[in-house]
Amino acid sequence: MARWKPDLKEGAVTPESIHLRRREFLRLGAAGALGAALAGLPDAALAGGDDPSGEALPVSRRVEMAGGEKPTPWKSVTTYNNFYEFGTDKADPAQRVGTFRSRPWSLAIEGEVKRPQLLALEDLIKLAPLEERIYRHRCVEAWSMVVPWLGFPLAELVKRVEPTSRARFLVFQTLLDPAQMPGQKNRVIEWPYTEGLRMDEAMNPLTMLVVGLYGRVLPGQNGAPIRVVIPWKYGFKGPKSIVRIRFVEEQPRTSWALLAPTEYGFYGNVNPSLDHPRWSQAKERRIGEFLRRDTLPFNGYAAQVAGLYAGLDPRKLY
Ligand code: MTE
Repeated sequence: MARWKPDLKEGAVTPESIHLRRREFLRLGAAGALGAALAGLPDAALAGGDDPSGEALPVSRRVEMAGGEKPTPWKSVTTYNNFYEFGTDKADPAQRVGTFRSRPWSLAIEGEVKRPQLLALEDLIKLAPLEERIYRHRCVEAWSMVVPWLGFPLAELVKRVEPTSRARFLVFQTLLDPAQMPGQKNRVIEWPYTEGLRMDEAMNPLTMLVVGLYGRVLPGQNGAPIRVVIPWKYGFKGPKSIVRIRFVEEQPRTSWALLAPTEYGFYGNVNPSLDHPRWSQAKERRIGEFLRRDTLPFNGYAAQVAGLYAGLDPRKLY
C-alpha cells in the first residue's frame, strides 16, 4: 500500500512480484537452481515454521465460510503480512515482531456507551465461546488468502457495553509505542493506526474480534493479541493489536483515508467493478497460486451484507 509514498527510500519496499516469484520457485522445488540468484533477498517464507505453533486455544465450533477452499498454509499466513508498525515489507512483521509484547494487554471501551470499561485480555477472551471461522481474506493490493481465524462476533462485545442512542460509528485504535513497534518511528501513516465501522457493520454477525489463528494464539505479526476481521472488506479495514474502541456520533477519520483519500475510502468494501486509481480490483492472486482468479463482490459475502448498503452510491462503497 505504500509504494506510492514519495518519501519511501528506493529498496525500502520489496516488490511484491519478487516475493511471489520466490515463493513459487520454492513451491516448485526449483530453489536449488534459482535460490542462488535470489539469495540476496530477505525471505519471509523461510522465517516461520511450517506448522501451526504457539499456545492452543479452546475452539467451541468450526465454521467453513470460504466456499470449501483449503486454508492458506500457516507459514504463508504468518510470514506474508501487512503490519506497518513493523515495517513496510511483507517480511518485516514476522522478522521484527520480537520487540513486541502482547501480554499483559487490555482493551479500553469508551465514548457513547453506558458501560465504558477497561477489559483485560483474559476477561475479553471469555466474553463468548471462541469459534473458528474460515474466511476469505482479500487485501486491497489484490492478493488474497483463506484464513482460519479464531474469535467471536464483535456484536457480543458491543451488546455488553450498551451503546447510547448517539453511537453511530466505532473507532478502533492500535497500540502506539514506537519502542515496541519500530515502524512507528517513520511517519508512513499517522499513528496510531485508526480504523472505523458503522454501527450496523460492527453488529453484522460476520464481523469478528479475532484472538487466534489455526487454533493457536494470534502471532504478533497477525495482530496479537486482538484484532478486527471484516471479511467483506479489504484487509486494511481490520486493525491489528487494538487497545481502544471508541463509540462516536460522527463518521471517524481513518488512517488510510486520511493519507490518500482518493485511494482508500471509509467503506473499503471488496468491489471487483470499482478499480483502485492505480490498479484493477477485478482479479486477485491467491497466495500460493499461479493464476489470478476473479474477485467476488463483497469478497463472496454479498448475500449476508449487500443489504447494509442498499441505496448508497456504489462509488461510495469504496
Ligand atoms: N493493522 C495495523 N495496526 N497496521 C497495519 O499496517 N495493515 C492492514 C490490516 N491491519 C495493518 C493493520 C492491511 S493493509 C491488511 S491487508 C491486513 O492487516 C493484513 O493482515 P494479515 O497480515 O494478518 O494478513
